[in-house]
Amino acid sequence: PASTTLLSPGDPAVGGVGLAELADRFGTPVYVIDEAEVRARARAWRAALPDADVAYAGKAFLSRAMIRWVEEEGLLLDVCSAGELDLAAHAGFPAERIVLHGNAKSPADLRAALRLGVGRIVLDSAGEVARLAALVPAGTRQRVLLRVVPGVAAGAHAAVRTGVEGQKFGLPVAGGEAEEAVARILGQPRLELTGLHCHLGSQITSTGPYVDAVRRLVDVLARIRDHHGVTFPELDLGGGFGIAYREGESALDPVAYATRVTAELALRCAHADLPVPRLTVEPGRWIAGPAGVALYRVVAVKHTGARTFVAVDGGMSDNPRPALYGVRYTVRLVGRAPAQPTRPVTVVGRHCEAGDVLAEGVELPRDVRPGDVLAVPASGAYQVSMASAYNLVGRPPVVAVADGRARLLVRRETPADLRSRDVGE
Ligand code: LLP
Repeated sequence: PASTTLLSPGDPAVGGVGLAELADRFGTPVYVIDEAEVRARARAWRAALPDADVAYAGKAFLSRAMIRWVEEEGLLLDVCSAGELDLAAHAGFPAERIVLHGNAKSPADLRAALRLGVGRIVLDSAGEVARLAALVPAGTRQRVLLRVVPGVAAGAHAAVRTGVEGQKFGLPVAGGEAEEAVARILGQPRLELTGLHCHLGSQITSTGPYVDAVRRLVDVLARIRDHHGVTFPELDLGGGFGIAYREGESALDPVAYATRVTAELALRCAHADLPVPRLTVEPGRWIAGPAGVALYRVVAVKHTGARTFVAVDGGMSDNPRPALYGVRYTVRLVGRAPAQPTRPVTVVGRHCEAGDVLAEGVELPRDVRPGDVLAVPASGAYQVSMASAYNLVGRPPVVAVADGRARLLVRRETPADLRSRDVGE
């Protein structure tokens, strides 16, 4: 699909609406999401894997409109908290198409999922097996997957590498822990184990790690068949598909993924004499990230020593990713033609710490000044959803653009909103 990831200079419009106009109308900071782009990106995965289920990982960005778009595009929805589950239910998303994740699902989370009738619950530990089974009403069965750790290292940062042992998610396939949990699940008549799940990590731009994971998972499936006499109809390979944040960076290609992963799966299953399970993939960032743009207004420009700091009206409260993972973004001036050539500047936020840097060493026109609007492309994933109320700045609004029109999806958090939770004397 056409990507708004890297706004070309001179084309500062998304969904047919000018970015500067959006900044004026909705105020800044503001997050803009291109509905057509989201839909096209969802369709790209469906087209690449027509025989698989594609579950949108809601942690990347969730709103009622987003939930409706992915529903209309035929996707499943991956949620990982009672809050995400509640929003999905209120948006009318069909419960049987929901997958519930989490390494620390509380009894309340599990009860809410059972009450709604979510399609699949992904079990993350041996102890969770009996905890969930005890909550499933008599005479019913809950479909579950078991999250396993295949021992494949992949992902852009240690904080998002979940395919290896020594991190909190899932059960390692090495050493038999995963198999032992499979036996426990098979011993619970109220649980129906439909397959294994793994999620390697996030911002993975090549297909190799997924192919490795398939190989290791099919080995485990063969062992399970040999020892327990069962085969499974499903295999969930998680998400983690990388996108370009800056020019010259590459994204994971769904067609390459589909080709290599389905070929490897078919081959390995044939060798092991196993039925080929139906795949599920769980893209989050790949669908939402490139469809979103963050807009800020410049508040101050400071030349100090050899550096130029361009300070904007948002920062680490709406985008903690540079501070957390060292991610680098592109920043563009929009809304006016620059009168001067560029120079490298540091774009910083408004928060009270020196680590509140949005982008280091980005090229902006020398005449950048207070009042200018700056756009940060590829801002649709893990920014709004990870936004905090640090310094009581208030979280930014989210605006959808489609067919030349803009509409507010999520309003700005106001001082009154923030104050309203403060109920003690
Ligand atoms: N499935 C599971 C079980 C996951 O845990 C995740 C992400 C996904 C799917 C979707 O991954 P994606 O396709 O979006 O990479 N906050 C970090 C990313 C954390 C990802 C957590 N799990 C960031 O801003 O880079």
